[in-house]
Amino acid sequence: MANLEMKLNQYVADLMVVYTKLHNVHWYVQGKQFHRMHELFENYYDKVTEDMDEVAERMLQLGQKPVASLKGALEITKIEERSEEYAKDLDLVSVVKKDFEYLLGLTLEVKEEAEKVGDDPTVDIMNEFTAYYQKELWMLNSTLA
Ligand SMILES: [Fe+2]
Repeated sequence: MANLEMKLNQYVADLMVVYTKLHNVHWYVQGKQFHRMHELFENYYDKVTEDMDEVAERMLQLGQKPVASLKGALEITKIEERSEEYAKDLDLVSVVKKDFEYLLGLTLEVKEEAEKVGDDPTVDIMNEFTAYYQKELWMLNSTLA
């Protein structure tokens, strides 16, 4: 499997797991910022599932086979799942922040591999995702400041 394909599949697997993890924090958040964070995490899981679909469909356009099972995703993912435990709003912001930092790094890695093979459409997709994670990380960091 070529480097770009491996990185794209990593992306799909990680977003599949992050999607579930964002539901976890959406459900198990508590505290004064409950409403805002409950909504924010919902926006995030809606976004990552769209992104997962976009990346998987890009792989199919390239003749590659994206992971399409939870079992398969769990074998590949580097995202650490969390158990069913209530936690404070800002603590869960930190949890999401850590995962978004990882995803930003992975986005840049995918972009680099796509650049190496001159795959401009994938570079464009990753540029869009980079801007998203940079903006959200700015907001998450400001929330925690
Ligand atoms: Fe909900």
